[in-house]
Amino acid sequence: MDIGKTAEPGSPKSFMTLHEDPSALCRGTLPPRAYYIPFDAEQPRSFCREKSSRFELLNGKWEFSYFESVADLPDHFTNAVFSDSITVPSNWQLMGFGRPQYTNINYPIPFDPPYVPDDNPVGIYRRNYMYIPDGLRRLLVFEGVDSCLYLFVNGNFAGYTQVSHRMTEFDVTDFLAEGENSVVCAVLKWCDGTYLEDQDKFRLSGIFRDVYMLSRPEKRIVDYRVVSDMNGNITVSVIGSPTVIKLYDGENLILSGKASGDVSFSARVGDVKLWSAEKPYLYDLELSSESERIFEKVGFRTVAVENGVFCLNGKNIILFGVNRHDSYPDTGFYADRAKMRRDLELMKEHNVNAVRTSHYPNAPEFYQLCDELGLYVIDEADLETHGCYPVYDNTSERPEGSTYGGIALIAADPAFREAILMRERLLVARDVNRPCVIIWSLGNESGWGENLRLGGELVKQLDPTRPLHYENVNRLPGDDTPDDVLDMFSRMYPSIEGIEKLLGEENEKRPLLLCEYAHAMGNGPGGLEDYIQKFMSSDRLMGGLVWEWCDHAFPVGKCPDGTDNYGYGGDFGELHHDGNFCCDGLCYPDRTPHTGLKELKQAYRPVRVSRVDDGFIFRNMFGFTDANETLSCRYEITDETGAVASGEINFILPAGGECRVHVPEAEKSFTRETFIRFVFSDKESGRKVCFDQIMLSEAEKRELHLSNRIPEAIETSLSITVTAGEMRFVFDRRRAELTVIEKNGVNILKKPLRFNFFRAPTDNDRAAGDWYRGYLNDPTVKVYETSVSFEDGCAVIKSFQAYGKSIYQPFCRIRAEYRISGDGRMTVSAKLATDVRQTEFLPRFGMRLFVDREFDDVAYYGYGPNESYIDKHLSSYVGTFVSKVADMYEPYIKPQENSSHCGTKTLTVSSPSAGLRFTSDSGFSFNVSEYSEEELARKKHRGELEKSGYTVICADFFMSGVGSASCGPVLDRKYRVPVPECAGEITIEVV
Ligand code: GAL
Ligand code: MG
Repeated sequence: MDIGKTAEPGSPKSFMTLHEDPSALCRGTLPPRAYYIPFDAEQPRSFCREKSSRFELLNGKWEFSYFESVADLPDHFTNAVFSDSITVPSNWQLMGFGRPQYTNINYPIPFDPPYVPDDNPVGIYRRNYMYIPDGLRRLLVFEGVDSCLYLFVNGNFAGYTQVSHRMTEFDVTDFLAEGENSVVCAVLKWCDGTYLEDQDKFRLSGIFRDVYMLSRPEKRIVDYRVVSDMNGNITVSVIGSPTVIKLYDGENLILSGKASGDVSFSARVGDVKLWSAEKPYLYDLELSSESERIFEKVGFRTVAVENGVFCLNGKNIILFGVNRHDSYPDTGFYADRAKMRRDLELMKEHNVNAVRTSHYPNAPEFYQLCDELGLYVIDEADLETHGCYPVYDNTSERPEGSTYGGIALIAADPAFREAILMRERLLVARDVNRPCVIIWSLGNESGWGENLRLGGELVKQLDPTRPLHYENVNRLPGDDTPDDVLDMFSRMYPSIEGIEKLLGEENEKRPLLLCEYAHAMGNGPGGLEDYIQKFMSSDRLMGGLVWEWCDHAFPVGKCPDGTDNYGYGGDFGELHHDGNFCCDGLCYPDRTPHTGLKELKQAYRPVRVSRVDDGFIFRNMFGFTDANETLSCRYEITDETGAVASGEINFILPAGGECRVHVPEAEKSFTRETFIRFVFSDKESGRKVCFDQIMLSEAEKRELHLSNRIPEAIETSLSITVTAGEMRFVFDRRRAELTVIEKNGVNILKKPLRFNFFRAPTDNDRAAGDWYRGYLNDPTVKVYETSVSFEDGCAVIKSFQAYGKSIYQPFCRIRAEYRISGDGRMTVSAKLATDVRQTEFLPRFGMRLFVDREFDDVAYYGYGPNESYIDKHLSSYVGTFVSKVADMYEPYIKPQENSSHCGTKTLTVSSPSAGLRFTSDSGFSFNVSEYSEEELARKKHRGELEKSGYTVICADFFMSGVGSASCGPVLDRKYRVPVPECAGEITIEVV
């Protein structure tokens, strides 16, 4: 619909003709410039923009009217009555207007570029602005508006902007009159830019970042560029008024001079202190013109790719990164400074050193915080056209055999050339002075085409000092990532073997970045250590950034315990959506860490300890910091009974180096299984930074427990009953399962003890479809034989059986043995044989017991206190832990397998009157929960979970790892229930 053209000529609505025209990117805006806030000339040095008399924040309540369709908008809407109000910044879908939609790849609108639906929702914002002429211009700044904005001042059209994550500046002075003025913004949900902003996120709209007015002289510093390097060289060039430049180191003025349009300021700082994520040293720069002052921070550092190696300040560094979206459960896309700081501090606390602003520039203050706190930033342009790929099959352009190539439809379309170049220009222009930005990224998942190539060339020309990144998704011949434009090659989610292959590519000499890896959805990511080992193995590996920082979800009610129940895709009445694929973060939406984040903290640990013959080696992962400068170390030696010894370690560990450490206490000989744990803490805050646990001694073989009592056994055709003192066991021959474990006449089992092969699928269990098809969750048993005999004073029940249900062969056969000693202990040994025809892998092989819910105290010796799996136990260590059953639960937004503990040697689950103890010398995995795995598998939201009424105990001979297959490689074989055979042994006794 020709919205603007059909409106009354000259009416506000008649100006709304630009949002379906990719060549009309803005009107009335000032040229893009570096972010800064001017102060008046008298202002003493300050980095708090609110202190500037030239800065007026316009956040707050604005009048608001919402129309489901722009067609319903009156021609003279600027004068209309405003029915509602809204907080600025915000997303209107979270304020009661319209609803969120979560879509990953698929466009939320028909693919008909540059057109967007006629029923295009629009929000009209209005507020007054008081103007008293003072000779200064008024520049109205929007830091982010989704998707585009028409600006009207006193009813007159004052400008237009799109590109949601750009900073836009309008000089509105000539539209203002003395006194109150009316500022009206019409914000549309869709515009032609929507095709370029197909990032995987909730689709939300509105003025979502800060809005403010700057008062500035006509003659002013328009823009400036600071270039500084590791040799202390600094150049400041300015556009606009002649400028006095002063550089301070703290309070000390160390350099001063002048810059003007023709001559830039160049100097060298002797003995320069460099900036890095480890030591984010910043100098203060003051730029003064006649009537203004700008305060800036400067970091000296050099980024380079040399001979295929990525270097910062001349050293090869590894990026231990995360990808971050702007997403908050209460404010959607809006992060104020406090929220951004909290995110970044949490990253630092978890040993993260790099963040990719996936997939658009963040708010300008984000980068200042990264400068200050020390995080390397991969700054990405506001560009993604992923949705082209699914529509491609419907196009006539599709060459034979190509599918994914369609992702480049827009990257190759000349109609979008300027729009794409603009996005690159905006990226560099705004953030070019930020030392934290060490890499530019052209965008995400937009294929490769001429527009991208030109975009890359533009970025390189605008800033030759930083390397350029882009992940192309698709590598078809002629659809590549040319090394004359891109300084690194980049991949998402390769397996370890995949990385090896990539490194071996013959014509590829550039360093490799994993711009996304270890998809952190739900219970995961597993296998992190494998990636870190790989990163450390080659200088050509730059490291990687985990996908992603936080779950995106919004509260939709409460859980019984009062915490938020979160909604994801599909919970907001969306026409189409991508379910819980938005819940793939290392933190919950409110930034409570998942266990995955704790795991990452350990994977990214700055000191790594290994054992050598005569002691231990500490390896420093910091490249610029002696670890002993910032870290202290304590050790503790433990066995199942607790701490055996502990003490302080004095060490000297140079940057990037190693040192040898002796711990005399560790040289002793031990009879029990014994470990040493080195715990590193931050000297200043005392915060725990990381640890390493190393085994000192294995357990001596336990003595076989012999009893002089001999159990009795009674056999019938359907059952075998074994009595040993006050214990009685009943084995059901027909189902090959234990129905009774009785002590003093009380059966502890509320349901039969069965073998268990299923787990509530995690988000990474993409194989779960197979599990259901094979009925792993609910198999029937075919019993081939059962018997009872006496061996070594024990009654031994033996059985041989198969499990399956329908259609296929049984998915496994088991030979089991229940060895019951005279004093009532039962050792279950089982050997499972499978040809895994039905499924890629078995999630688990173990036993499940339902006992009274009074059994709610848990004590174990194994990997705790965090949930632990064979491929996810870096944040846990072997120790003795106690817990209530209710606390052994990890509340994933979508319920799934959680809170198992691997490497367990002893587990006791107790009620006030009895305890059930499980032991195994070779270790087992266990899970104790109020919820059944069926319930966890059935429910879509944590708030819907119902307790089973029992304590459900799983004692697993083998629990498969969790991996990261939700968007990554399939679970590594070494972490799966072994095939074709898996055997284990667990002793159960009532204590
Ligand atoms: C990547 C993409 C991300 C996100 C992720 C899956 O392909 O770049 O934006 O969609 O996959 O969670
Ligand atoms: Mg995508």
